[in-house]
Amino acid sequence: MKKIVIFASGSGSNFEALAEACREGIIPAKVVALVCDRPGAGVIERAAKFEGIEVLVVNPRVYPDKRSYEEKIIEALSHYEIDLVCLAGYMRICGPTLLKAFSGKMINIHPSLLPSFKGATPIKDALEFGVKVFGVTIHYVNETLDGGKIISQAALPYLGNDLEELTAKIHGLEHPLYIETVKNLLGQ
Ligand code: GRF
Repeated sequence: MKKIVIFASGSGSNFEALAEACREGIIPAKVVALVCDRPGAGVIERAAKFEGIEVLVVNPRVYPDKRSYEEKIIEALSHYEIDLVCLAGYMRICGPTLLKAFSGKMINIHPSLLPSFKGATPIKDALEFGVKVFGVTIHYVNETLDGGKIISQAALPYLGNDLEELTAKIHGLEHPLYIETVKNLLGQ
């Protein structure tokens, strides 16, 4: 059985969608661990609902630098043979230590049609810019912010929604796209 690790910092709806799809056999893989960098994040509670998912809360504040923080994560995961690392609202730029450890195996979901609107507030930025087609991108992770090669995208037209409605619609596109993309990648 292929093994997935998910990194998340926030509420964890994408984490839950992937974990549930694995549990139901929609994705032929097992989520073996969650890595969370924020003690108290909602995703930790969601992960507790799943049997057999190791929850690793690694607080970067207690490490002197990014390298030692990332080394700690790699050490904690070293007993797994990981096939895919899925970032799902992991609000940190991966450093060379993590990128090297999971080279070519790390993907991310971002709520814009990349390469437009990288960064932390893509939906708001796109709305302010007046774009007429919004969307979601799944891409490989490299050393640049939201910059790796694109794997899949889904789009939706702007129908005069405000930021809140638009955000809900875009999040609604994320879960099925992430499930389908992970399934396809692991099937290769
Ligand atoms: C999602 O919009 C994802 O695209 C972005 O961060 C958000 C995480 O949401 N990278 P959730 O924690 O999975 O609900």
